[in-house]
Amino acid sequence: MAMTRTHPLPNYTHKPVLYQEVLTALKPESGKRFIDGTIGGGGHAQGILDASSPDGQLLGMDADPAALDVARDRLAAYGPRVTLVQSNFVRLEEIARKSGFYPVHGVLFDLGISSMQLSAAARGFSFQRNGPLDMRMDPNLQRTAANLVNALPIEELAGLLWRYGEERYARRIARAIAAARPLNTTTELAQVVARAVRQRGRIHPATRTFQALRIAVNDELSALETVLPQAMGALAPGGRLAVISFHSLEDRMVKSFFRRESRDCICSPKEPVCSCGHKAALQIVTRRPVVPSATEKSSNPPSRSAKLRVAEKL
Ligand SMILES: C[S@@+](CC[C@H](N)C(=O)[O-])C[C@H]1O[C@@H](n2cnc3c(N)ncnc32)[C@H](O)[C@@H]1O
Repeated sequence: MAMTRTHPLPNYTHKPVLYQEVLTALKPESGKRFIDGTIGGGGHAQGILDASSPDGQLLGMDADPAALDVARDRLAAYGPRVTLVQSNFVRLEEIARKSGFYPVHGVLFDLGISSMQLSAAARGFSFQRNGPLDMRMDPNLQRTAANLVNALPIEELAGLLWRYGEERYARRIARAIAAARPLNTTTELAQVVARAVRQRGRIHPATRTFQALRIAVNDELSALETVLPQAMGALAPGGRLAVISFHSLEDRMVKSFFRRESRDCICSPKEPVCSCGHKAALQIVTRRPVVPSATEKSSNPPSRSAKLRVAEKL
């Protein structure tokens, strides 16, 4: 593991969500290899390494170099059992092959962002902390949230808020944003949205707008769509793929991928005879998604929308 650090370490620890459930799903054992595609603060990764002692191996990836620094520090004691790579997980297959993690016995994606990223005002992820409208997981990306908010035509912005935020007031919010341009900070944006929506509900009125912008800035849905077949391809027979999602767009994608890949034929039901030649590659382990217990939700509120789905390679 390279030891050059480019950021001060954030002084917080992200609480891994559905921790025990992930370990039960992945069944870590000594001698096995695992990929954590979203290593974050390394909480799940540490659990996998402990449970696969003394010689289980883990390849961890994260798009965010600051997250990788935290993971590197936390996992230093595991020495050569850990390989860390800063990358978007869309390069999973290439990186796994190069690093000798092909095939593997388990792959984990714990999607979205960590509390570390959310609580760093300068990253611009949170409407509760004043910071620049950034929202990039990987600071090398060209496009920030400010670019989208200040440059997209109203119709495109409304489409983005509707598609990625499932925001019912998308057009109203897009018009208000356009009228208030230029917007430079998270607080300015949150105030514009709150004034446009004028509704007080269970969640802050800017929640969906921030989610939509983050998904668009980081191209999160297309990354997930790209990586699921790669992760399936990387698994050895009997290996498991575990995905924790935090909103319905991600969960729907995982659910339909697992469904399709667990069927021998994916022809339309109208076809009298199968012509697709598709063969099932996965068996679904979780018919229904696993969700956090009431205790976990109350001790770790960011876990409340988490859903874990697991499938096993045939
Ligand atoms: C919820 S956190 C993971 C927390 C981790 N499981 C733990 O126990 O500390 C999600 C992490 O995934 C990273 N991430 C999200 N999408 C990614 C992608 N497409 N490629 C690489 N990393 C990604 C984020 O930067 C973040 O650090």
